[in-house]
Amino acid sequence: MGFPDTRMRRLRSNEAMRRLVSETKVPASSLVYPIFVVDGSRVREPVASMPGVFRISVDELASEIRGAASDGVGSVLIFGVPSSKDSRASGATDRGGLVPRAVAAAKEVSPEMLVMTDVCLCAYTDHGHCGVADGEGRVLNDPSLDLLQRMALVHAEAGADVVAPSDMMDGRVGAIRRALDSSGKTDTVIMSYAAKYASCFYGPFREAADSAPAFGDRRSYQMDPANSREALREIELDVEEGADIVMVKPAMPCLDVIARARGAFRVPIAAYQVSGEYSMIKAAASSGWLDEERAMGESVTAIRRAGADIVITYFARQLARACR
Ligand code: PBG
Repeated sequence: MGFPDTRMRRLRSNEAMRRLVSETKVPASSLVYPIFVVDGSRVREPVASMPGVFRISVDELASEIRGAASDGVGSVLIFGVPSSKDSRASGATDRGGLVPRAVAAAKEVSPEMLVMTDVCLCAYTDHGHCGVADGEGRVLNDPSLDLLQRMALVHAEAGADVVAPSDMMDGRVGAIRRALDSSGKTDTVIMSYAAKYASCFYGPFREAADSAPAFGDRRSYQMDPANSREALREIELDVEEGADIVMVKPAMPCLDVIARARGAFRVPIAAYQVSGEYSMIKAAASSGWLDEERAMGESVTAIRRAGADIVITYFARQLARACR
């Protein structure tokens, strides 16, 4: 039955009708808000390339968590940005380190807030790579696993609900699961950055996290943006190793990957709307070239429509306020 019996515009004729037939919602409960924590006290430094994003010290975290909770955000993802770094990423596995202190502080102000932590060595190594490196600048897989296991365990012991390995070393999900389980942390969730591409859209984040590699790039461990079958293999392996939630990253450049993953797996799928995706919208909006609220809403709706259950986004607080 075609036109004139069928008229697609009938269901678009007014706001209530459009809302009634809307296929994709962005509930605040699906959003995760990233937070960068730094050493020191009373620090609240703006990140120049990410307007509206700050690096804060642990003492400032309580008000950040309360603010996020009152906006309606239910989950935060904590990134540590330590001031001292070394070749062994010692700060990453320190029980009294930045992230364990931040996790404890966050849980203290709001036990109901889900606290997730990024598990990766790049902010802790003096060379800025996500694993340990040898003298020739190669990033070594197996020697990195022990550090990642210890890092995840330290976060879980501090109270993290979810640990999120973003390093892209092979075998790290299984290694982390074993480490958590053998220490009684059987309920700690692993959200793996399973299909993580070597993307230029992480550029602004590296300023925020002070984690740009000192030599080379991340293409020997992060994925080639040309590949999507390989993404399914990455996700499959992480699920087999025990990942509870798998992530695709970046989000908008990978909507096809999110959609394929949604069709192929039954685990919850997360997508990370990364720093560059955020900064592009912010920059265009500040020049008056895009409507910020609408670009934010449309981009996250598209990520959900592609099949993401969970969206990690720097817009989480602003979006959650808009959903109220
Ligand atoms: C750490 C990590 C990165 C991001 C999340 N975890 C950067 C990278 O891999 O270089 C990027 C997040 C963003 O761009 O918002 N490995």
